[in-house]
Amino acid sequence: MCGIVGYIGNQEATSILLAGLRELEYRGYDSAGIALLETSSVKTFKAVGKLDNLAAKVGSYRSSGAVAAIGHTRWATHGKPTEANAHPHGLTHSQVVHNGIIENYQNLKSTLSTPFLSQTDSEVIVHLFEKHLDGHGNAPDAALAAFRATLDELHGAYAILLVSELTPGRVFYARKGSPLQIGFAAGGCYLASSDAPLLGLCDKAMHFEDGQWGVATADTLQVFDANGAVVEPLFAVLPASSAAAQKEGFRYFMEKEIYEQPQVLADILTGRLRDGAVEFEAFPADWLRPFRSITLCACGTSYHAALVGSYLLERLARMPVKVEIASEFRYRVPVLDPEGLFVVISQSGETADTLEALKLAKAQGLATLALCNVDNSSMIREAAQSILLRAGIEKGVASTKAFAAQVMTLWLLALHWGQAKGLLDGERWARELAALRGGIDVVKVQPALHERIHRLSKRYLHGHGFFFIGRDLFYPLALEGALKLKEISYLHAEGYPAGEMKHGPIALADAGLFTIALMARTTLWDKIKSNVEELSARDSTIVAITPEDFELADDIIRIRAHVHPMLEFFEMMVVVQLLSMEIAIRLGNDVDMPRNLAKSVTVE
Ligand code: F6R
Repeated sequence: MCGIVGYIGNQEATSILLAGLRELEYRGYDSAGIALLETSSVKTFKAVGKLDNLAAKVGSYRSSGAVAAIGHTRWATHGKPTEANAHPHGLTHSQVVHNGIIENYQNLKSTLSTPFLSQTDSEVIVHLFEKHLDGHGNAPDAALAAFRATLDELHGAYAILLVSELTPGRVFYARKGSPLQIGFAAGGCYLASSDAPLLGLCDKAMHFEDGQWGVATADTLQVFDANGAVVEPLFAVLPASSAAAQKEGFRYFMEKEIYEQPQVLADILTGRLRDGAVEFEAFPADWLRPFRSITLCACGTSYHAALVGSYLLERLARMPVKVEIASEFRYRVPVLDPEGLFVVISQSGETADTLEALKLAKAQGLATLALCNVDNSSMIREAAQSILLRAGIEKGVASTKAFAAQVMTLWLLALHWGQAKGLLDGERWARELAALRGGIDVVKVQPALHERIHRLSKRYLHGHGFFFIGRDLFYPLALEGALKLKEISYLHAEGYPAGEMKHGPIALADAGLFTIALMARTTLWDKIKSNVEELSARDSTIVAITPEDFELADDIIRIRAHVHPMLEFFEMMVVVQLLSMEIAIRLGNDVDMPRNLAKSVTVE
């Protein structure tokens, strides 16, 4: 969720680092910083906000001679976007930049006596490194051993770059779960968390594997695996353009973001499942307990996530839940429960209607909570409490991974609340926990499934409309599938509760009406089956998304069989996202920038 860069050589380093960070700014931009190790002293610059603020702080400063330098652009997860929380983090002689999450940072921190300056999980790395090096001199081998000892203590995900005044001309690096690559050229050695900053500087790069770590100089590289065995560096040719590099080989950002969903779900769980309970770093364990009811308020895709949340909160936490479309809510003179919690859900945190709804609830004295993907956004600042969605920057206008993150976060919230009320016994909790973890695997795009959807999509480029239908949790998913399709394909699509079709819409059924049936095996299977049979009997063309055989389907997109409804939900979510995208691409549309839409709707 952050971007990191490094440089070792004799060239001027501030401009190299700032140019590299600009290529990564799309990944996070709430603060940034650089550290320049020239001969044997480090100079750091940090600034809150966009990179221009960092460039202004650097001003006319230019490095001279040999330098080892590291830089970071941040997307806050632990601690607010302040200068103190911006990377690099330093202690007496070393500085570190980190991308990822150190899950056990609080335990590690409690073992250290050195003073901490930030609220981040990352700062613990530099403290551990200096502790392990203390008393072992300043030979590069001692520093390498201290770095290894540090890595051995870290749980979680990371890409790390570290420099120390005791070892000039060197950058220590490590990768586990967060990308990191290195390239060499006549000008020196370049490191980055994605290809984009290396383009135009190096022709080839080594993409480190998980568990690899080591040390680099301007023209040498030592690589070790997780067991400490030496690894022979392997370099691959870099892509041709920076836009292509940002998309990392995918045709569109939307496609890349669909493929990123396993990482997003894993990031959401990181550090939140402790001692058999769900914990949120944002608020104390019993904060939710006194609330008597909950109102979820949002727009568009985020509203669909809210609807999913309402089923989960009712079921798992037995809470009375209301779901509101923000643009309707704010003008309705709503009657609010003074003892209720008002929750806004938003990718951007800036959607005008949702923000105004939040202000209205706050003005009426309600406790408020924002679930947002952008830290320091207006909603996060306005709400009493907030939970960051941890989806990373979403570039495609059609929301995909942010929706997955919203649903996952609401599920965790429902579990947290259910536990606080003592509603989840050991067996129930074990079942939920297995499903939470299983979700990460379920949203991994299987190549055969993607290929099948790609091939199938050519049959669905015409007709007079699509009906996505589902029941229970799969009804909001039907709404979301229809929204995805219409916003990027410009074809008419509606989401409907399957049981409602016979109350009117079934009049539209003929061979040109495409029914996309979300036929969950875990949830009301017989009911949805008979709803789809009714449509088939009226000649509607049926695409069944299901783990079961269903002979009336014109096409089946088969998902795996699951025991938990949320696993079926997440697998079907990927299917409807890919189906919409493949249809839109075949129609020649730019799925990242669909006509008439904007990523953040800051007007009414
Ligand atoms: C659809 C989509 C929109 C947003 C809506 C709310 O793909 O992205 O429907 O969900 O504009 O935006 P946020 O979540 O930023 O409040």
